Amino acid sequence: MTRKRVGVLISGRGSNLQALVDAAQAPDYPAEILLVISNVPGAQGLARADEAGIAALAINHKDFASREDFDTVLNETLKQAEIDILCNAGFLRLHTPGFVRAWYNRHLNIHPSLLPAFKGLHTHERVLAEGVKISGCSVHFVREEMDTGPIVAQAAVPVLEGDTPDRLAARVLEAEHHLYPHALGLVASGAVRVEGKRVIGTTQQYRQSMLFSPALSGALY
Ligand code: GAR
Repeated sequence: MTRKRVGVLISGRGSNLQALVDAAQAPDYPAEILLVISNVPGAQGLARADEAGIAALAINHKDFASREDFDTVLNETLKQAEIDILCNAGFLRLHTPGFVRAWYNRHLNIHPSLLPAFKGLHTHERVLAEGVKISGCSVHFVREEMDTGPIVAQAAVPVLEGDTPDRLAARVLEAEHHLYPHALGLVASGAVRVEGKRVIGTTQQYRQSMLFSPALSGALY
């Protein structure tokens, strides 16, 4: 098995990065994490990469005159490292159209809602304000518009009485840590292809795994 060469883009804590790094320790995982780039110097995720022995660098977007200039350097750095698949893991910056084109269908993002609902920032606050009962997270291929693109897999997470944004975020994050390695595994192993707005799976493995619904343990009321 040839493992796909993966780069991860982060801006902060990097807990999803950690989940990907941990999953890629398994010898039969179809991807290896080879490069981590943060647009924020000093991001916690860079230290996680260092600790795992993965090349980690900060490319500060503030050092560039334009989004295009930043994305050009980002793209060149990834190309130089011969990255096959790019994963945004809490990378809180919009890409330029040219960058999106360069990584088309090889570029994933994780978002902490059941897309297409609740795109953007302050997701959990808005989920609670709308009174929805089920939230979750989604891994999707990146397109120009933020948090948009063909969905690879989603996990459903209950919203519970008394939830605060932080409590809900923590419950969703736990699901993210299962979902992202799973979704990257599907993409890296070639178990999916993109058809228009949809991700189509050809294997039984994929059909059974489009939606996670973490078991609800104990009574909810
Ligand atoms: C995660 O919850 C991720 O889904 C979210 O940022 C957090 C990063 O946490 N991403 C977005 O909201 C993208 N629109 P992490 O740095 O610990 O992985």
